[in-house]
Amino acid sequence: MCGIIGYIGDKKASEVLITGLSRLEYRGYDSAGIALMKNKDIFIYKAEGKLNNLVEVLKDKKNICDSSHIGIGHIRWATHGLPTTVNAHPHTCNCKSLTLVHNGIIENYQELKEELEKYGCKFVSQTDTEVAAHLIAHEYGKYKNLLKAMQAAVKKIQGAFAFCAIHKNEPDKIVVAKRNAPLVIGLGENENFIASDIPAIIEYTKKAIYLNDYQVGVVEKNSIEIYDDDGHLIQNKIEHLPFEAMSISKMGYKHFMLKEIHEQGDVVRNIISGKFVGSDKIQLENFKLTNNEINNISRIQIIACGTSLHAGMVGKYIIEKYAKIPVDVEASSEYIYRDTIADKNTLVIGISQSGETADTITAIKQVKAKGSHIVIITNRADSTMARLADSLLPVNAGIEVSVAATKSYMAQVISLYLLAIYLSEEKDLKEYKDEIKKLKKELVELPNKIEQLLENSKNIKEIAKKYSSYKNFIFIARGINYPSALEGALKLKEISYINATGYGAGELKHGPIAMLDENMPVLAILNTGVVYDKVLSNCEEAKARQAKLIGVTNYLANKDKALFDDLIMIPTVSDILSPALNIIALQLLAYYIAEYLGKDVDQPRNLAKSVTVE
Ligand code: G6P
Repeated sequence: MCGIIGYIGDKKASEVLITGLSRLEYRGYDSAGIALMKNKDIFIYKAEGKLNNLVEVLKDKKNICDSSHIGIGHIRWATHGLPTTVNAHPHTCNCKSLTLVHNGIIENYQELKEELEKYGCKFVSQTDTEVAAHLIAHEYGKYKNLLKAMQAAVKKIQGAFAFCAIHKNEPDKIVVAKRNAPLVIGLGENENFIASDIPAIIEYTKKAIYLNDYQVGVVEKNSIEIYDDDGHLIQNKIEHLPFEAMSISKMGYKHFMLKEIHEQGDVVRNIISGKFVGSDKIQLENFKLTNNEINNISRIQIIACGTSLHAGMVGKYIIEKYAKIPVDVEASSEYIYRDTIADKNTLVIGISQSGETADTITAIKQVKAKGSHIVIITNRADSTMARLADSLLPVNAGIEVSVAATKSYMAQVISLYLLAIYLSEEKDLKEYKDEIKKLKKELVELPNKIEQLLENSKNIKEIAKKYSSYKNFIFIARGINYPSALEGALKLKEISYINATGYGAGELKHGPIAMLDENMPVLAILNTGVVYDKVLSNCEEAKARQAKLIGVTNYLANKDKALFDDLIMIPTVSDILSPALNIIALQLLAYYIAEYLGKDVDQPRNLAKSVTVE
């Protein structure tokens, strides 16, 4: 996580850096800082907390801000050391000649620190980054050249990094390096830009070079040089960036999260657009396996984290049902450190809204080496994960600003429906033809139902207010909505800090029931379908322990209504597609509870939207 930015050109560097950092806030927001070069002097400004605090600090520094045209900046998500001003980047060496910003984690920083202390280096922060600043400065002492110092230093560093460094003795350049953390160099006329991610620079340029792992670059106003690991000068491809300058307006909504929840009808429309033509088989142009290879798939492994993991769990139900291929779903962080079994007949699906999640990237690299075909479902077709894909299924949900994923989850889930249908049709599983026909029709109708649910969400707001003082919640569901229960509970935890846990409803009596009393509301998802009666019985069990009961349902017999303290009705939908509607009710419930409690909905504490450390 963390976002880094650099600028060299004729513009006021401070303005480019602050604008860029504001576009990188999704990567972290516990402190921020910039370093500005002016006449061989480096001025460092930092502030704890949100970026606005740094903007306040800079108001008194107008003179420097208006006259510096080279600078680097950073927005932090703390890994080593508290989110204090002293731990905020940029960091420097003792003589303050060298200044550095860093995204990633330096795994051997303790060993390096001990070594550097022997040379007299004094450390003021608790960060791993400060060790890198001292190390590069130490190498500079030997080489008297920032490029060479960086090249020597990165060979001694273990872990992940994207670095931007400036040095007083070489005031006309920024030196960059990368390993397992994203870094893009934007190309301009008489100016160049460096950033962790495109949104930070897209309003200035549409041309960029992606730095690859183990490369080091020298960025000047009118030139860019890239060197490989052996120090050879090389050329990286210039790419056209796939974005328009993004609109980050809330469009009248109080928070981005609410706006993004309301965009989900259109997200579904976009994804299914042009996919169902007449009675033809669905086309997935980017899916690269031949029909023969699809018939040889012996198993599918879905790897993801957080909300994307829950989307994967929905995918398991649908793919197993319609494509008749066994599917395992696993958290990437657990997948990595195990002897996983995969081969060329294993289809691996990596799901990630950011495409930059470190654990998922590592897992994908591991399994790719075993010869498995890699499908990536991501909202960022320009991401590291997208580049690892054999088949890329971009979901194009649009930029999601709020840290809590909502529309990107919807997009992933809908893509998995399409993939399941595609696999079933390619395998020519005739027994599902009729069901799939119905499912396609329902998918086409889904956007309108989503909008109907959103329009009638007043009672969700009222229920949210009623339950906002509870400290704990249990969410239960069964079957295809079990992941909805997990995701609904996760949403509530993330943005309201209320302790909410999702369980398979059948598991309630195997432990969690011990916690039930009048202070522990139970939210149950019940849809007409095979598990309806079972979940209803689980609700009875909860009620018998005096738990308050909230039902989320598309149908409830009159005789059963009295069991529930509150009901959230969703539009009529089949069991198989119900996760796409139920989740919206749960997103809104979490949103309104957090909003009522006055929480920072779009930037919840301790979280980040892109988790680039393992
Ligand atoms: C973070 C985000 C979550 C996201 C998870 C996985 O924790 O806050 O919203 O689900 O990372 O991220 P990915 O980008 O791989 O989907």
